[in-house]
Parts: sequence; structure tokens; C-alpha cells
Amino acid sequence: MSKPALNAPLIRRPRRLRRGENLRALVRENHLRRDDLIMPIFITAADNTAREIASMPGIFQYSLDRVDAELETLLERGITRIMLFGIPAAKDAVGSDTWHDHGIIQRAIGHIKANYPEFYVISDVCFCEFTSHGHCGVVDDTGALLNDPTLENLQKQAISHAQAGADMLAPSGMIDGMIGAMRGALDAQDFAHLPLMSYAVKYASAYYGPFRDAVDSAPQFGDRRAYQMDPANAREAMVEAALDLEEGADILMVKPALAYLDIVRQVRDRFDVPVAAYNVSGEYAMVKAAAEKGWVDGDAVALESLLSMKRAGADIILTYFARDIALLLP
Ligand code: PBG
Ligand code: ZN
Repeated sequence: MSKPALNAPLIRRPRRLRRGENLRALVRENHLRRDDLIMPIFITAADNTAREIASMPGIFQYSLDRVDAELETLLERGITRIMLFGIPAAKDAVGSDTWHDHGIIQRAIGHIKANYPEFYVISDVCFCEFTSHGHCGVVDDTGALLNDPTLENLQKQAISHAQAGADMLAPSGMIDGMIGAMRGALDAQDFAHLPLMSYAVKYASAYYGPFRDAVDSAPQFGDRRAYQMDPANAREAMVEAALDLEEGADILMVKPALAYLDIVRQVRDRFDVPVAAYNVSGEYAMVKAAAEKGWVDGDAVALESLLSMKRAGADIILTYFARDIALLLP
């Protein structure tokens, strides 16, 4: 038997376009840039604190008297959008620190705007870091989250963040009607120009574990499955996204990112507003842990993961990698 011939002449040879980085860069479809990224920052009301979060190497809780070096590093590296999370001096049943003039987020916004006006400051709008029970709003005596009373408090929090000088608000509680409630309150107070980035599709995810350590916001009873989405559901994500758009959301976020890239893609295809993906704490922790063991190249895995979010259709990526990966990006 003679050697079999190739079954047909190869007219199409995709490998032709993979010869050398110069050509590969020319035909590259997706790009990751510093301008795509938002860096989350944890601000504590305690004094004199720069405490590294054990499960998030390289990420710290800072007090306002210790945060400047971090802010300056970000600016030097061209990361100019930040998302603020607060750890208050005291928690209570409703999370009232969130709407006080001297709440930790209000003070943080004031400090950053006064000293580093180059930053675009986005505030996370929720209650779980501020409530004694760790849930994302008001709860009744059975521990159930009460939707509409939470909306009223969200309005107070939104107005207070706006008055403090936030550039954009990002409600993360998965409360029905949160966008409409905040939009209405803001518009009535001359903040009609302030954009809302909705955590529109937020799943009840085990990937939030390190974040809950970082801000001490693990629920004291129960879990968040009665308000965050079931990881099994995709159609429902489209309902959530459509509702938030109708209520006035400017940007739709999907969270977490990596395990939900199919959802990022569907939201991208179905809705014509910017889409954000949140590369959450557990996604960061996994890469860091494996890299520390020498099992993967941490920078390369981070770049590949973040690029996958762009490829899935995200315009914006929230990521704890932002500060360090910026050194590798255009
Ligand atoms: C609070 C909030 C959470 C995250 C962002 N905002 C946590 C949660 O719902 O428990 C997660 C961020 C992360 O894991 O990096 N509503
Ligand atoms: Zn919350």
C-alpha cells in the first residue's frame, strides 16, 4: 500500500496568519487596555491601617491616612477609575453609616476628590458591609430581606454618595427596583447627570468568599440566595438586565465573570449599552494561590482571563489585578 495522499490541496491554511508576533498583532481581534479596567479599593474607618487581606495577596484595607501611596501608584500606572468599598467604624441593623455625611464612603470620596481629582470615583451602593447581620438591606425578624424598605434606604445612600461627590454609583444588592428608586431620587435632587452602573446580573456565588473576609460582610445567618441569582439560570439574567435598563441603568454588569462568560456574551448581544464584567475576589485568589505555589504563571493567567472577558463582550472589567497588570498593558 502506498502512503495516502492528502485528501485535497490545502487552499485555506489558517496557520499562515500565525507566523510571527508582528503579523499576529496585526490580525488580533481583541485587546486588553488599561482603559478597560476599574480597580476596587477597600477603605476602613479605622486609623493607621494598611492590612493585607490574607486571601487576596497584594490587596489591602487602607485607612484614609494610609491610602495615598496606593492612590499615587494607581495614577502613575494609568489606572484612573476606582470602585470604593467601605468598612465602617460601627455596623447596625440597617447600615446607617451608608447615608451619613461622615460615613466612611463619604469621607473617602471627599479625600480622593480633594487630593486626587484625576480619579473617576465609583461607589458600590449596598448595605452588607454596614449591617450587623451582613445582609444587603433591611431584614425582618425571620431574617428575610425586605425589598421595599431597602429601596428607601438605597435612595438615602445614593443621594448621600452623590452629595459627597461620587462620579458614578453602582448598586450591588440585587434588590428589585433598585435602579428605578435610585434614578428617581437622584433626578429629583439635581443629579440627573450621574450614571448608574447596575450589578444587574449578580449570582449567588461561592467566588465572593475572599471579599467577605476583606470587608467582614459574611451573612450572620442564612445566605444571599433569596436575592442574588441562581447560578443555574441564564434566561432570568436577561429579565434582570432588561428591567434594569427600563429603570434607567446606564451600564449593565455581570458578576462573577469567569464562570459566567456565556452570560456576558448574551447580555452583550441583546442590549446596546456598555457591559461590565466583575472579575471577583475568588477569581483573583485562585490565580494568586496557584502562582504562589509555582503552578501557573500568574501574570500570564491573569492576562488570558481578562482577555477572555473582553472576547465575551465586556467593555469594562472590574478587577483586583488592575494595579499590577497595568504595567503590562497599553
Ligand atoms: C456587596 C458586594 C459583594 C461584591 C461586590 N459587592 C459581595 C457579596 O455580594 O457578598 C463581591 C466582590 C468580590 O467578590 O470581589 N453587595
Ligand atoms: Zn450587599
